[in-house]
Amino acid sequence: SSLKWKILNVPKHIEHFSKFSPSPLSMKQFLDFGSINACEKTSFVFLRQELPVRLSNIMKEINLLPDRLLTTPSVQMVQSWYIQSLMEILDFLDKNPDDYKVLGEFVDALVTIRNRHNDVVPTMAQGIIEYKEAFAQDLVTNQNIQYFLDRFYLSRISIRMLINQHTLIFDGSANPVHPNTIGSIDPHCQVGDVVQDAFHSAKMLCDQYYLRSPDLILQEMNKKKNLPVSMVYVPSHLYHMLFELFKNAMRATIETHENSNNLPPIQVMVSLGGEDMSIKVSDKGGGVPFRRIENLFSYMYSTAPAPQIGEYTRPPLAGFGYGLPISRLYAKYFQGDLQLYSMEGHGTDAVIYLKALSTDSIERLPVYNTTALKNYKVSQEADDWCIPSKEPLDLRNYKVAK
Ligand SMILES: Nc1ncnc2c1ncn2[C@@H]1O[C@H](COP(=O)(O)OP(=O)(O)OP(=O)(O)O)[C@@H](O)[C@H]1O
Ligand SMILES: [Mg+2]
Repeated sequence: SSLKWKILNVPKHIEHFSKFSPSPLSMKQFLDFGSINACEKTSFVFLRQELPVRLSNIMKEINLLPDRLLTTPSVQMVQSWYIQSLMEILDFLDKNPDDYKVLGEFVDALVTIRNRHNDVVPTMAQGIIEYKEAFAQDLVTNQNIQYFLDRFYLSRISIRMLINQHTLIFDGSANPVHPNTIGSIDPHCQVGDVVQDAFHSAKMLCDQYYLRSPDLILQEMNKKKNLPVSMVYVPSHLYHMLFELFKNAMRATIETHENSNNLPPIQVMVSLGGEDMSIKVSDKGGGVPFRRIENLFSYMYSTAPAPQIGEYTRPPLAGFGYGLPISRLYAKYFQGDLQLYSMEGHGTDAVIYLKALSTDSIERLPVYNTTALKNYKVSQEADDWCIPSKEPLDLRNYKVAK
């Protein structure tokens, strides 16, 4: 059948499109696609090439996963979604960009694809759990999986950004809720407002489960003017990061002040400089030992197998353990970062660093090449640092040779 023929040709297409590097867009280019002279045809012609390139680049890396992970039902399912979506976009390669019906069908296809991929993160996480339950882990595999998932989820964020921009801008209706946004980008994103929104949502969750919640103290610093901090950004991305940080800060605050009548507030500092727009979320939730900080961003470490029912119930403000790693990817997507500074016994500062200037906000995208390939091929080598022994050395065993 023609479908079977198409599937048989998929590896050839992946091979072809993965030879191209993805083209990172700047905030300015995103805005131009959505400005008054926005041309749906231009966007269509760009996306029918760029989406297959981004999909194929990351599909090459999926194929490099350890066999025992690649063959889990969950990862197989995710892979089949990628193949299906790639085929659906390739259908548009020989269509006429001047035909408005084609453009309409393309928007519909993108919506279908976006919905198909809604559950990629939990499904992939399920695959990791299946793999962890079945096989002993080693350090190298853990590092490879961390490397892969950071790239895979970042690629997914970028693909969804492209799809969202096109569908929001060209679905024929103005956005009634946010009339001044361009697709999902707000050229005048009021950072303080997003902080308040995210805090409010986390607070509602927190009140619901713990019957109380800490307050917010918000401060803003704007070097240039005495105005609230504003920037060109994707409010939903910023909201996502802040919501995750607030849930963590609230949970830590409440659990360390269980027996106290008043809760120390969560303090937020928003600061706009010439290069960075930074947001610091500070809590007095007891902090995390320094040794554990890196693990908090690990996918393998987080997705502990589900605890036996009755033995232990996971605190309600925490889920898969993907809050921090995914938030850091949102920050990195436009050349920012997210870091934790913690003092065990006291509390934690989480800082989001974003680019203040839209000219610096350029997509950060993984590319499949020989360097990436090498990163999957690293083998277990001896550490070049001594392993501290747990037992005190018994010096009596060290006899001087005569
Ligand atoms: N502000 C904080 N204070 C103390 N511990 C923290 C803080 N933020 C994170 N942690 C620790 O880091 C872990 C990982 O956080 P992360 O947000 O990634 O996952 P989670 O909160 O467990 O689950 P979810 O996916 O729902 O966010 C938390 O379980 C918690 O132990
Ligand atoms: Mg969390």
